Amino acid sequence: MTPRLGVLISGRGSNLQSILHAIERDELDARVAVVIANRADAGGLAHAVNAGIPTEVLEHRRFASRADYDRALVEVLRRYDVGLVCLAGFMRLLGPVFVAAFRNAILNIHPSLLPAFPGVDAQRQAFDYGVAVAGCTVHFVTEELDAGPIVSQAAVPVRDDDTAASLAARILVEEHSLYPAAIARVLRGEWRIEGRRFVTDAAAGSAPSTTSE
Ligand code: GRF
Repeated sequence: MTPRLGVLISGRGSNLQSILHAIERDELDARVAVVIANRADAGGLAHAVNAGIPTEVLEHRRFASRADYDRALVEVLRRYDVGLVCLAGFMRLLGPVFVAAFRNAILNIHPSLLPAFPGVDAQRQAFDYGVAVAGCTVHFVTEELDAGPIVSQAAVPVRDDDTAASLAARILVEEHSLYPAAIARVLRGEWRIEGRRFVTDAAAGSAPSTTSE
């Protein structure tokens, strides 16, 4: 059965669009079962509507507690039979209720080379710090912000003439290929998490190449 994704957004949804494009081009064998936004004005909802994908708006302000909000999100995701949750610019911290309901089945994309620069405005944090190499990370979501096991990363060199905005724009280009590829890797299975490390079994099981003399 085709794996069913639930994509959670808060804003413009360019990463959602890159996931939809990858599916269209058969680079990602999955289906977006539902797109959930925590804001009715999230621009990315239009991408879902255009692609004929069901959308749901769950405004966090309407819930008394984080746990109540998490439970409502889980209920919607279960209703659409979602197996893997993909956060794509979702600006809400998810609590233990949510993380426990989708253990090792929630991914996020973050615009820095974690563990450097977690939190908001990561590209500007990296730029202001003066790093020579910035980038983006796809990681599993745990209860700690931007701190779950890393699935994959892409590096983006900082140029002398960069501004925080031009750097963010080049990082975003990388995000758009990194995220669908990371989702495909996770969906392929045959991986495990060892401590903090995401390890694919194919790599672990492959015998070292030998040369005969
Ligand atoms: C991206 O930079 C992503 O890394 C971060 O939020 C931004 C979302 O952008 N988590 P978009 O809504 O996917 O265009």
